[in-house]
Amino acid sequence: MFEKLKPDKNRKVSSTKWLQRRLSDPFVHQAKFEGYRSRAAFKLLQIEEKYHFIRQCRSCIVDLGSAPGSWLQILHNTTKPSVSLVGVDLQEISPLPRAQILVGDFTESDTMVRLEKMIDGKEVDLVLSDMAPSSCGDRETDHLRVVNLIDDALIFAERILRQKGNFLAKIWHGGAEQELRCKMRTIFTKVELFKPEASYSDSSEIFLIGIDRR
Ligand SMILES: C[S@@+](CC[C@H](N)C(=O)[O-])C[C@H]1O[C@@H](n2cnc3c(N)ncnc32)[C@H](O)[C@@H]1O
Repeated sequence: MFEKLKPDKNRKVSSTKWLQRRLSDPFVHQAKFEGYRSRAAFKLLQIEEKYHFIRQCRSCIVDLGSAPGSWLQILHNTTKPSVSLVGVDLQEISPLPRAQILVGDFTESDTMVRLEKMIDGKEVDLVLSDMAPSSCGDRETDHLRVVNLIDDALIFAERILRQKGNFLAKIWHGGAEQELRCKMRTIFTKVELFKPEASYSDSSEIFLIGIDRR
């Protein structure tokens, strides 16, 4: 049985809706039960179920926008101990086994340099980006912000990703998506869109998948 929300006259309608959704969300409960730091874990698990990217990794995985760390937990559970896990986020992340974590703004060149130092010349098999800018409420502006983050993630991936390596980034639907997909086709043999079941059906979120770096 899902918990019921206690009435509170001072709570905003939007907060009430958000809380109600969380209380009735099976993935929130499942994440708690399985010890994942966030329900986002199930999005990556469902993507992995279809694409098998993670289990193929032999050397290094980079996770952009890692906080609170549920994707790093999955990477840890799914890969061999010899695979390096490197994560970056604006926010602090409590330590996780095997993960090297950098706190910083990924879009700043200094952060990218530090990240590359952490990768330390290892072959990168997979670049993941779940980076999400804080929403300003305007759909198209939010979309363009997330596209900018993916643009930077792609520039970085082109520098560090090995041949046949894979790429995955969260996007919010919008006008610049087509151009981004065209750009990805110049880097990857195959480009696909995937919406995992754990991604809310009324959200514009979808995942861009770049398969087999040329
Ligand atoms: C949806 S959360 C990621 C959840 C994570 N995949 C997990 O499983 O725990 C998005 C994250 O992107 C981070 N982020 C947004 N912009 C960023 C940037 N420019 N550099 C680094 N991290 C960023 C945010 O701080 C936030 O923690």
